[in-house]
Amino acid sequence: MLLTLSGLTKRYPTGDLALKGVNLEVPKGQVMALIGPSGAGKSTLIRCVNRLVEPTSGSVVLDGTEITGLGAAALRRARRRMGMIFQEYALVERLTVMENVLSGRLGYVGFWSSWFRRFPRRDVEEAFRLLHRVGLDHMVDKRADALSGGQRQRVGIVRALMQDPQLLLVDEPTASLDPKTSRQIMRLILELCEERGLAAIINIHDVALAQQFARRIVGLRAGEIVFDGPATELTPEVLTTIYGEEDWSQTIRAVEEDEEEAVPA
Ligand SMILES: Nc1ncnc2c1ncn2[C@@H]1O[C@H](COP(=O)(O)OP(=O)(O)O)[C@@H](O)[C@H]1O
Ligand SMILES: [Mg+2]
Repeated sequence: MLLTLSGLTKRYPTGDLALKGVNLEVPKGQVMALIGPSGAGKSTLIRCVNRLVEPTSGSVVLDGTEITGLGAAALRRARRRMGMIFQEYALVERLTVMENVLSGRLGYVGFWSSWFRRFPRRDVEEAFRLLHRVGLDHMVDKRADALSGGQRQRVGIVRALMQDPQLLLVDEPTASLDPKTSRQIMRLILELCEERGLAAIINIHDVALAQQFARRIVGLRAGEIVFDGPATELTPEVLTTIYGEEDWSQTIRAVEEDEEEAVPA
């Protein structure tokens, strides 16, 4: 198993119990969507995996390494195996695309504290390769603040891949994008995971998009997993369990009409 969460619990200092003993296993190379209403604990869950949020109790094991309890240096090494992609891209606005991408090689050490280090030639070459793969090779010298939302997210994706991770932690990657760009970005993430044998946890509140692109769906409600199964089993009853009472027929129909866009098994 690539990732095993056992009894993962997070209580914030405010008293909010965001995760209530979550157990979850993600095999190598599996892409899963984590859905659930706002406040369910999706962001907390993926941030506990790389300990951007410190779990209160429970354990996170990545490829045999117990992440919980690692000291600072070991944690930094372990984090290189987990690429993170954010909703708001988290780019440095006044740096170029290439500079933003290369900062991915620095792991989570402060970017500015490492700014004067030289980037190895092979990192620069890998950055060019990845930027070409996502269709941004003509934009390497553009400043981040001159890019569209979709382009910014492609930079965010390339930056996460620069560390050559085994697992991608993706937090609402399309929340700031229009519907068409959202699909393109989801498709790109899926393709890259397939090409590179990467596992991913993709937090996404858009049910239709999750169902279209991920075969495994995990539903989180108030810090607990209330559904874990194939996208095809997301019935109105299941959605009601996850999100509460609502009319789901429209959502589900939209997905069925889009079936030709689904990523092949
Ligand atoms: N930094 C924080 N401090 C205190 N409470 C937080 C913090 N971050 C999240 N929470 C709370 O934890 C719960 C889960 O939040 P979050 O993980 O952001 O959910 P989601 O990503 O599913 O919207 C919510 O009740 C939220 O208010
Ligand atoms: Mg969130």
